[in-house]
Amino acid sequence: MTRVIAFETSCDETGVAVVEDGKRILVNNVASQIDLHKRFGGVVPEIASRQHTRVISALTQDALDQVGGGVDVVAATNGPGLMGSLLVGVNFAKAFAYARGLPFVPVHHIEGHLFSIVLDRPEPSFPSLALIVSGGHTQLIDCAAPHDYRILGTTQDDAVGEAFDKVARLLGLPYPGGPSIQKAAEKGNPTAFDFPRPATKSDSLALSYSGLKTAVLYKLRDHPAARVEDIAASFQEAAVDELVIKTKQGLRYTRAPRLIVAGGVAANRRLRERLLSELDVPVLLPPLSLCVDNAAMIAAAGYSRWRHGFTGDLRTTPKSALALV
Ligand code: KG4
Ligand code: ZN
Repeated sequence: MTRVIAFETSCDETGVAVVEDGKRILVNNVASQIDLHKRFGGVVPEIASRQHTRVISALTQDALDQVGGGVDVVAATNGPGLMGSLLVGVNFAKAFAYARGLPFVPVHHIEGHLFSIVLDRPEPSFPSLALIVSGGHTQLIDCAAPHDYRILGTTQDDAVGEAFDKVARLLGLPYPGGPSIQKAAEKGNPTAFDFPRPATKSDSLALSYSGLKTAVLYKLRDHPAARVEDIAASFQEAAVDELVIKTKQGLRYTRAPRLIVAGGVAANRRLRERLLSELDVPVLLPPLSLCVDNAAMIAAAGYSRWRHGFTGDLRTTPKSALALV
């Protein structure tokens, strides 16, 4: 049995987790900073890194207490993300690994999201097409095998989570925008406004969200009395449509036998129900607790990287714009 302790500090969640053999979650501590950033309407990088520093030691001690102390491998997110935040987790992890004489494994944040799918479930995850939908990324990735990836399509402008967050701000809904829009949308009419779906206009697997965001801005300007719930529902429908259309194209193109969906926006109820009902391949969705940033997914990816020999050392430093491949 191999236990991986992992640290995730790329944005505004501090995560410390211990996972056994890359699959079984023993501890998954997540300290969210949402309440600290809420009044600014978005993440303030300096506040984020200071808060990671404040809580990471206690979360680690608690995780070690829960598993009785013994861990074998140390993993940490080393990008992409906020530099000050990444530095907290990576330096903590390197020091921890060095002090205990353990291997240190750097993990790409998006690969972590991909591995949220392997946790606590028996079925195979690869080969697959992956739809990554987070606050910073919107990508379709051809996953031939663990660590063998080809990016097929990516957003040309905003990430889908970013679009939810920006539109929520326009609508005066609280941060983070995804859950607020989902909640408002449940009381609105998704056909009230016809927002653009650029995906319908091209066969390429590239995605785009800035046009949709601008369309919401103009709609609000031209219809100041429009119901927030109707705009939220119509926006969400267009944003989800864009993802569903491109995912179907990606599946036709790759003939992948299954779809993995991961990242914060994978928590979106409308996206989940449409993918589950409209695709003719199995759709692997993480439980809601593993959609948001967490360290269990980093431990799962770290375990696989360690098994494949992709370890780092004390010279490994985080990169805010780290590429997956
Ligand atoms: O993966 P994640 O926790 O952090 C990044 O790696 O970016 O994703 C955060 C994003 C935010 O943009 C948030 O608004 C969005 O995920 N999100 C949602 C929902 N829950 C979180 N978007 C739509 N519907 C949701 N239910
Ligand atoms: Zn993430």
